[in-house]
Amino acid sequence: MVIFTKTPEETIKLGEKIAGSLKKGDVIGFIGELGSGKTTMIKGIVRRLTGKDAVSPSFVLINEYSGKTPVFHFDLYRLKCKIELETIGWDEYPGKGIVLVEWADKIKGILPPETIFIRFSILNGERKIVISGLKKRKNDKSKPPIPPFCKGGIKRGFIRRKIK
Ligand SMILES: Nc1ncnc2c1ncn2[C@@H]1O[C@H](COP(=O)(O)OP(=O)(O)OP(=O)(O)O)[C@@H](O)[C@H]1O
Ligand SMILES: [Mg+2]
Repeated sequence: MVIFTKTPEETIKLGEKIAGSLKKGDVIGFIGELGSGKTTMIKGIVRRLTGKDAVSPSFVLINEYSGKTPVFHFDLYRLKCKIELETIGWDEYPGKGIVLVEWADKIKGILPPETIFIRFSILNGERKIVISGLKKRKNDKSKPPIPPFCKGGIKRGFIRRKIK
């Protein structure tokens, strides 16, 4: 599905609409250059699901928005190595709520096969938004293993921030 939005408000609205068809266990990967609208759409999703205002978790790794179905918002921009995610028990999050991952292309190999992808690009001021995987995601609880090898070493001390 391809959608074009002209303003941040339109992207937020689209996020609110997408949120309506999400359920616990869903993982959404957001891919796109800096400033292309990933966090903006997440604002819409988080607002609809929890009533909270999403903020960029760039200096922590995860923002957690509590609600009927909790939402976990990962920003992997600063992630150096996939194995860093293992230190925070990454694979347990889909069992607890809905997982939204900015810069998901950095960990493609370890995302569940049923992951929904939303790709953003900037075109003449507009945003081109391509959504894939919304249909083929049901009931597959398989979790691909996290690779045991990390070239860059493990950066410890990621913080999880709870937004009430
Ligand atoms: N149609 C649009 N949809 C979303 N954002 C838009 C749109 N048009 C302009 N913008 C602007 O583009 C910027 C998008 O920022 P946003 O933080 O959502 O991007 P991002 O992809 O999360 O970036 P980063 O990679 O830095 O996390 C905002 O400043 C927003 O106002
Ligand atoms: Mg962002």
